[in-house]
Amino acid sequence: MWHISFVSVLYFCLLLIISHQTAISADIINQTCKKCADESIVFSYEFCSASLQEVPESNVTNLQGLGSIAIKLALDNATNTISIIEQLLTNKTLDPFALACLEDCSEHYSEAITTLKDSIKIFLEEDYDTARRLLTVVMTAVTTCEDCFKDKEGVVSPLENENYSLFQLSDIALCIVHLLSLVVRSYNQ
Ligand SMILES: *[C@@H]1O[C@H](CO)[C@@H](O)[C@H](O)[C@H]1NC(C)=O
Ligand SMILES: *[C@@H]1O[C@H](CO)[C@@H](O)[C@H](O)[C@H]1NC(C)=O
Ligand SMILES: *[C@@H]1O[C@H](CO)[C@@H](O)[C@H](O)[C@H]1NC(C)=O
Ligand SMILES: *[C@@H]1O[C@H](CO)[C@@H](O)[C@H](O)[C@H]1NC(C)=O
Ligand SMILES: *[C@@H]1O[C@H](CO)[C@@H](O)[C@H](O)[C@H]1NC(C)=O
Repeated sequence: MWHISFVSVLYFCLLLIISHQTAISADIINQTCKKCADESIVFSYEFCSASLQEVPESNVTNLQGLGSIAIKLALDNATNTISIIEQLLTNKTLDPFALACLEDCSEHYSEAITTLKDSIKIFLEEDYDTARRLLTVVMTAVTTCEDCFKDKEGVVSPLENENYSLFQLSDIALCIVHLLSLVVRSYNQ
């Protein structure tokens, strides 16, 4: 008899733990996004909260987990964008100037992918200063791509949304790495 109630108590505890975890994770996401948005005018709280919330809860129990998720989201996004660029490059109706920019962008996004892969490794090694430097390189690459389209009047970037996404995702990662480096510094003092 006690056996059954033991199992149900155990089950109840498990439910408590799970719902507690979910609350922690939504909380840490929103708090982190808020902190980052407070420090930068380009940083979008809504984008940050929505992007991080999409990832399964189990990973998001601390800032470090959140950081690696943000870098992985950025990497996935850059990878998607490369295939979008390849598709656009086959479009013969595009302005030749825009096509030339797309060729450049393809290189910049490839660089972003390589750099993001490096930054995941470096991030996991807790070398936060180098990780920040690499994430800045990613944001510069994305911006350089987008700037190309501005050099000719009347040309509209076909990668506006992609620029926005990858820039924001890298900015989220950058901010989390920054917050983590502050924690490390205060430990070392
Ligand atoms: C976190 O923010 C999102 C969107 O801003 C909101 O829907 C959600 O209720 C918030 N969660 C918590 C735990 O504050
Ligand atoms: C989440 O955690 C699981 C298991 O620990 C892992 O396989 C997966 O890659 C993680 N996802 C992200 C986005 O970090
Ligand atoms: C990632 O990239 C794709 C293609 O560029 C974009 O449509 C999508 O909204 C992005 N996803 C996120 C979570 O930002
Ligand atoms: C090619 O680009 C034009 C102008 O941006 C667009 O309207 C058209 O749908 C594209 N065609 C293909 C096959 O993607
Ligand atoms: C790219 O997107 C970011 C927001 O994520 C924005 O601040 C920036 O102005 C965009 N770059 C260009 C050149 O439009």
